[in-house]
Amino acid sequence: MELYEAIYNRRVIRDFKNNVVPDEVLKRIINAGLQAPTHDHLRNWEFVILKNMEDKERALQFIKKGTEPQLEILKRTLVNGTLQQKMYAVAMPRQYSMLMNASHVILPFFKSTSGVLKPSCVSSLNPISSIWCVIENMFLAATAEGLACSMRIPVGEEGKNVADVIGAPENYLLPCYIGLGYPADDKPEVEQVQYKAEDKIHFGKW
Ligand SMILES: Cc1cc2nc3c(=O)[nH]c(=O)nc-3n(C[C@H](O)[C@H](O)[C@H](O)COP(=O)(O)O)c2cc1C
Repeated sequence: MELYEAIYNRRVIRDFKNNVVPDEVLKRIINAGLQAPTHDHLRNWEFVILKNMEDKERALQFIKKGTEPQLEILKRTLVNGTLQQKMYAVAMPRQYSMLMNASHVILPFFKSTSGVLKPSCVSSLNPISSIWCVIENMFLAATAEGLACSMRIPVGEEGKNVADVIGAPENYLLPCYIGLGYPADDKPEVEQVQYKAEDKIHFGKW
């Protein structure tokens, strides 16, 4: 698939077929992630892969607790919602299933620095900025492979709890969970607000 085609076709998908992604394909996607730019030349990134139900249940157990109260709020606010609210209406009930039902869950970890969770300037966030370059490379590679990804950001203590149960070193942080799989044929279409470059470019001065 051509690069621009992958960029335009990439979507966050939350419903998957049962088919299993072969390990060689998974490795190609992780290798694409490893080509991302890195703030410190060190590429201090590690990937925990969950394939079987038991491993997934152990790592994903903390998601359920966080989403139930949010679902109650959504039920009250989503009637005739904006596009953003409609996206939440599709996304929120799927936060657990979109990972449990994915062929693989990828947990990308980055090595943290002392300033990363208490930033004093934008560059304190460099480890987080770098891992997001990795994540986007993987999303595009997955799209080029005919696959798709779901993603969830761990809320509150979730990331730390996941890191503990899977045995990650203390100085490694989880920026998001990624579900990888073959997109389901009957997945809901989530409408996006569309912008063109002309709407966003400021030549010379804002
Ligand atoms: C930083 C970030 C956080 C996100 N958090 C979540 C999340 O917790 N759960 C979820 O289902 N999707 C999450 N998403 C996916 C967005 O909902 C999605 O990217 C957005 O609706 C645009 O859709 P598209 O990626 O299909 O173009 C997140 C995306 C980003 C970039």
